[in-house]
Amino acid sequence: MERIKVREYFEGEFDLPGDKSVTHRAIMLNGGAEGEAVITNALMGEDCLSTCSCMRSLGAEIDVDGTTLRVKGTQRFRRGKELNCGNSGTTIRLLTGYVAGKEIDAKLYGDESLSSRPMKRVAEPLALLGANVQTTDGHAPVYVAPEKLHGADVTLNVASAQVKSAVLLAGISAEGETSVTEPVKSRDHTERMLTAMGADLRVDGNKVTIKKSTLQAIDVCVPSDISSAAYFMALGALKGDTLCKNVGINPTRTGILTAFDRLGIQYSLLNERMSGGEATADILVKKSYMQGITLTAEDVPAMIDELPLVALLCAFADGESRITGAKELRVKESDRIRTTVELIRNIGGECEELPDGFIIRGKKKLQGGDIDSYLDHRIAMTGAVALIASENGGYIHRPECCAISFPDFFDKLGLKLF
Ligand code: S3P
Repeated sequence: MERIKVREYFEGEFDLPGDKSVTHRAIMLNGGAEGEAVITNALMGEDCLSTCSCMRSLGAEIDVDGTTLRVKGTQRFRRGKELNCGNSGTTIRLLTGYVAGKEIDAKLYGDESLSSRPMKRVAEPLALLGANVQTTDGHAPVYVAPEKLHGADVTLNVASAQVKSAVLLAGISAEGETSVTEPVKSRDHTERMLTAMGADLRVDGNKVTIKKSTLQAIDVCVPSDISSAAYFMALGALKGDTLCKNVGINPTRTGILTAFDRLGIQYSLLNERMSGGEATADILVKKSYMQGITLTAEDVPAMIDELPLVALLCAFADGESRITGAKELRVKESDRIRTTVELIRNIGGECEELPDGFIIRGKKKLQGGDIDSYLDHRIAMTGAVALIASENGGYIHRPECCAISFPDFFDKLGLKLF
């Protein structure tokens, strides 16, 4: 079994990989648009490679040169394809909606983890638009049959950018107007990119409305991923100053900064600017004293992928923290409530499992120990931060899954697999 020993850490400046959500969308939307586009600073993690290979199967032309992609879109997706989405929830959910609008048949499937994640949440709203999407007992493989779509008003009972985006990507091909309303606003990269590509779209609070539209290819300069930067930002707070450069600070993604504010972590946003419709900044984080916090359902969507890391920070904070309203964590790449509780306990922390979150009793010093990633990239990377911040360090088992979103994560920390 591959494992990595974690102990050391060097403070400093970090360039992080491109944003996963923005890269998926830039490939997918340009892959179905009129014209050609260049995507720079694209994330070449395994999830985005899954999106590339699916879009190629559907007929898009994609050339890869390092982190620069050239995409030539196709208006007519190829029929009858079997689309392997690997480990990627974003690929399977967004593509299900996109393909459903193209009046073609397709099968979408993925690995064991993806096959355990809920797909009815996409099939049911798409059915309201007239789509024929069959799941396998609520999961992948998912089968799309050709149907002509019509607009509908969809209300979601879960705040999910993946589900919202699936409806919008079907909505661009549906006759008339389609709207989707979510209980709390989730990340809005799809809305921003569709608008930039010429879609007729409007946003009113948590409701997004789209009319049938043709997309024009656009160049995208992908900001660095705040979800990847978060590990280095956390190390800044725990160990010593870090500067993460050119990080996307779209307000629907900066929940980690809200958590930092409440924990009392000192940070500054430097060099704030706009890049390709998305706000970016360099984020400087100082080693800080932290106090326990409370987070509830309203806070969750903007930090959904960072919650294991936030829970870890709470384990080092003074006093008790309570995170609730986060039951979505149960259906991520692993059951992240269970795997986060186990991670914190394995390094000597105190963490109680709630049905929808955690209660964490902070300690100034944690011993360290052995951690399993459960093949979940965010747990592997949270584990690295945990062990670096601990007294004695330890091993991470099955760490290689960090390639899903951050292929050179351990290199950036100066650590090698053995
Ligand atoms: C993503 C949305 C989130 C997030 C995932 C990426 C996206 O999922 O957890 O890593 O790119 O739309 P949900 O929207 O289903 O919560």
